[in-house]
Amino acid sequence: MTDARLADLADRLPHLRLLTEPADLEHYGRDWTRRWTPKPLAVALPGEIAEVQAIVRWANEHGVAVVPSGGRTGLSGGAVAANGELVLSLERMNRVLDFDAVDRTLTVQSGMTLHAVHEAAKERGLIYPVDFAARGSCSIGGNIATNAGGIRVIRYGNTREWIAGLTVVAGNGELLQLNRGLIKNSSGYDLRHLMIGSEGTLGIVVEATLRLTDPPPPSQVMLLALPSMDALMEVFALFRARLPLQAFEFLTDVALKHVLAHGAQRAIDGDHPYYVVTEFDADEAAQDAAFAAFEHGMEQGWISDGVIAQSEAQAAALWRLREGITESLAPHRPYKNDISLRISALPAFLHEIQTLLGDAYPHFDVVWFGHIGDGNLHINVLRPADVSDADFIAQCEHVTKLLAETLQRHGGSISAEHGIGLVKRAYLGSTRSAGEIALMRGVRQVFDPKGLLNPGKLFD
Ligand code: MLT
Ligand code: ZN
Repeated sequence: MTDARLADLADRLPHLRLLTEPADLEHYGRDWTRRWTPKPLAVALPGEIAEVQAIVRWANEHGVAVVPSGGRTGLSGGAVAANGELVLSLERMNRVLDFDAVDRTLTVQSGMTLHAVHEAAKERGLIYPVDFAARGSCSIGGNIATNAGGIRVIRYGNTREWIAGLTVVAGNGELLQLNRGLIKNSSGYDLRHLMIGSEGTLGIVVEATLRLTDPPPPSQVMLLALPSMDALMEVFALFRARLPLQAFEFLTDVALKHVLAHGAQRAIDGDHPYYVVTEFDADEAAQDAAFAAFEHGMEQGWISDGVIAQSEAQAAALWRLREGITESLAPHRPYKNDISLRISALPAFLHEIQTLLGDAYPHFDVVWFGHIGDGNLHINVLRPADVSDADFIAQCEHVTKLLAETLQRHGGSISAEHGIGLVKRAYLGSTRSAGEIALMRGVRQVFDPKGLLNPGKLFD
């Protein structure tokens, strides 16, 4: 170990797994953005809380920045280590610690994947309902760091709603037990909620107590083809009023083109500009209501076509049309926007933004999809082969500035569920006031006086 700081860490923690091979530095130093060149000092893979605390204390003594790391499926650069930081990967801390059938809580280490959390809940006859396509790779700690949302927010809300307690190593190495699983706790500031969505800047989440709930009743999945964005909003209002929705997701024909090219199966013939994948509780009354809503939508001209899954395999195939989009776009290194608005503000915003993006990106493929039922749109711009990375990002940044201004006027947010990280840092001021950002800086200073936890992320 040639670096004296690392030699000291290895001396203090002789059993700590520490990686310094170039391939490991590259693997652990980046996330799904692939925009920055990874350059961490080393990667530490602690196996227990005491090691995490010792690493943070060591980092304070040597002034080494620490990047907390989960599954690195993030899309905002929140887990990127490109400046000689120590990556602190929680991936070895991935066990279930406790299940309480009375409280209906599952306590887990933060390196568990979301999929493993789902399985652990299922084995106990319950569900952890937050869900999205990266479930197999993302970690519950990363979900907490970004207050992840996903495809069932319309029914269950974001990650925040399901966190009953957190164990956190603060910036000085101290261990904090936040909320301890209580349902009611009116005893001052709820630091648990401050941690959720803090993108690893206030502390390192090492354990989480998750609320579980009953499995939903059997459901049905439907794919709809629609003629316009206005029709999409009408159909959403119609379905939400009449059906117990679990999900209501949309994609455009451009998104469909990419996901079909990536191996998904076409389910509706013809060309339609918009599609919806929706899932709802399927008791007899809901099924009748679904058919009635569908017919009404057809009569109004809001729905052009539709299919309803007849089996679990068909339901999975319909979901693949929506869930496969991110993977199908990844080879194009998309520039990602993840915006949110109040649903009531969407129609006016969409009218304005469609013209703006049409003018701004006449030569780029622009792919729209997302959680329209939550007011959350993903607008992905694809880099043409003949445009350099630098030119492409510069053009996209210019448009993001206009997008951020438009969002600000409509009261929206520049990040709905991916986080601010490095990618959206320049636009934080369009979503948060100067006063709020000043307070956030103050909070960060209190939790991490030396500024060593995920520096540069969220804001400088
Ligand atoms: C999704 O909704 O599929 C995720 O947020 C990932 C993405 O935006 O690519
Ligand atoms: Zn999403």
